[in-house]
Amino acid sequence: MRILVTGGAGFIGSHIVDLLINKNHKVAILDNLTTGHMINVNPKAKFYYGDIRNVKLVNHIFKEYRPQVVIHQAAQVSVPNSLKDPVEDARINVEGSVNLLEACRLTNVRKFIYASSAAVYGEPNYLPIDEKHPLKPQSGYGLSKLTVENYLRIYKSLYGLQYTVLRYANIYGPRQDALGEGGVVSIFINSLINNQQPTIFGDGKQTRDLVYVKDVAKANIDAINRAHQEILNVCTNKQTSINTLYQMLMNISNSNLKPQYRPSRQGDIIHSYLSDKLITSKLKWKPKWTLEQGIYEAWHYYNSENKIACLG
Ligand SMILES: NC(=O)c1ccc[n+]([C@@H]2O[C@H](COP(=O)([O-])OP(=O)(O)OC[C@H]3O[C@@H](n4cnc5c(N)ncnc54)[C@H](O)[C@@H]3O)[C@@H](O)[C@H]2O)c1
Repeated sequence: MRILVTGGAGFIGSHIVDLLINKNHKVAILDNLTTGHMINVNPKAKFYYGDIRNVKLVNHIFKEYRPQVVIHQAAQVSVPNSLKDPVEDARINVEGSVNLLEACRLTNVRKFIYASSAAVYGEPNYLPIDEKHPLKPQSGYGLSKLTVENYLRIYKSLYGLQYTVLRYANIYGPRQDALGEGGVVSIFINSLINNQQPTIFGDGKQTRDLVYVKDVAKANIDAINRAHQEILNVCTNKQTSINTLYQMLMNISNSNLKPQYRPSRQGDIIHSYLSDKLITSKLKWKPKWTLEQGIYEAWHYYNSENKIACLG
């Protein structure tokens, strides 16, 4: 199948591209390299450099490449940036996505798979958070993700464009940037490699649902032919405390560097994990990587020669 992956030079998108190519799909990438890196780009994929907001370019790509499926990962991914500059966030995440949807409509794309986020739920009312949980995003970022979910519903009912929405929990693994808005695993590993004391905000007992990136790539590929018009959490259904995670990384790295604790940041959610019931039944997907295996592989990745790309 011919598949366009937006954001295919980024952390999650590049793993999706690798898996697609492994499974003999033809893949094109659209990425403007704001947070992605050319080193992540699979040489077997066709690479289009540019912005998802560029109407002319997007229409040209869809006419030339004729994708049958679009896997949309490109985004402004930072919650704090969406609070600092909500206009730019909406332009990239909403306008850019609608631009892609229009191109799908005009060229009869079969299916659109969308990277949404647990940020659409906001402060949890109960745990684990299932897909019926109230939707009260607390940031422009979360609202932008929810808005595109609703555009998908409309494009299906008006134009028949099939879709699957995947609401990611906290994703970690190789190629995640440790700089900027990196995830907690890459930030901790970066500190340990550089022998710098990492900071934990709060008492470290707060929990997250950590999913290994290769499992997320698999969920996207599984959604090509399944779970049409479903909105699914991509999660492990498990909570891991930040202290437990840090202790595991200290063991793997043979380090005894103690973290420094700072007061928790305003708006930080204390406990969060998502229910995997729906994705298990609709997509027949379950994560294969345990946290131990995932962080072991991530640790070795960041210690290899590739780390330069991830550590800036
Ligand atoms: N990492 C997580 O834990 C997580 C959690 C929930 C949702 N998500 C979503 O998953 C998707 C992938 O995130 P990621 O963690 O791989 O981030 P990432 O920053 O590594 O990847 C995003 C990619 O999109 C590209 N991009 C950004 N703006 C663009 C634009 N205007 N035009 C073209 N390309 C553009 C970037 O260059 C980058 O390659 C995003 O949609 C993000 O919102 C990620």
